[in-house]
Amino acid sequence: MEIVEQQPQTRRDFLYLVTGATAAIGVGATAWPFIDQMEPSADTLAAGAPIDVDLTPIAPGQMIRVRWRGAPIFIVNRPPKELDTLKDKKLAAELRDPESQVRQQPTYAENWSRSVKPEYGVYVGICTHLGCIPQFFPEPSATTPVTNWPGGFFCPCHGSKYDLAGRVYSGVPAPYNLPVPPYRFASDTKLRIGENPPGVTFEMNSVVQM
Ligand code: FES
Repeated sequence: MEIVEQQPQTRRDFLYLVTGATAAIGVGATAWPFIDQMEPSADTLAAGAPIDVDLTPIAPGQMIRVRWRGAPIFIVNRPPKELDTLKDKKLAAELRDPESQVRQQPTYAENWSRSVKPEYGVYVGICTHLGCIPQFFPEPSATTPVTNWPGGFFCPCHGSKYDLAGRVYSGVPAPYNLPVPPYRFASDTKLRIGENPPGVTFEMNSVVQM
């Protein structure tokens, strides 16, 4: 059976879990979940079969982490206040690639929210500097590792920071925005990672940098 990784941080709003390909995911929104899944074969994982994720338990301001093709995928539910922050021109001026011009995402995520539906951000959780896994900080707080930062993803290895759309800041070691994997909405509440919307072709290996 598939196992779940331990929650690595103490933040209550960070749901951290791992699942396998072809398995649907559902979590309790208030507990750090342990999920039992049928473990897919190594061949299936290597082939990058799509995974389905139930979005209903992810409350606004929360993030879960699933595994696809061996990579951590961040799925964050962004409430309106956080979406307003993403549209802030002052924030855009601090970013290296605010318009997502570098090919780090499919065309359907080349927009201000870097997503299909603005409220749900879906990103490969691997820092584009040297590959550490960034931490999630949905909003400023006493524990935010950097000052004057509205929150987002912070990489503790060398201090790179990204906003809540995975856009990297200028002046940090990471050179590129977090990649967006292929995904589509199988229904209003179900995300399918590893599959593009109909009529679109996008492969993970076409991004500039993982
Ligand atoms: S690996 Fe993230 S800042 Fe270096």
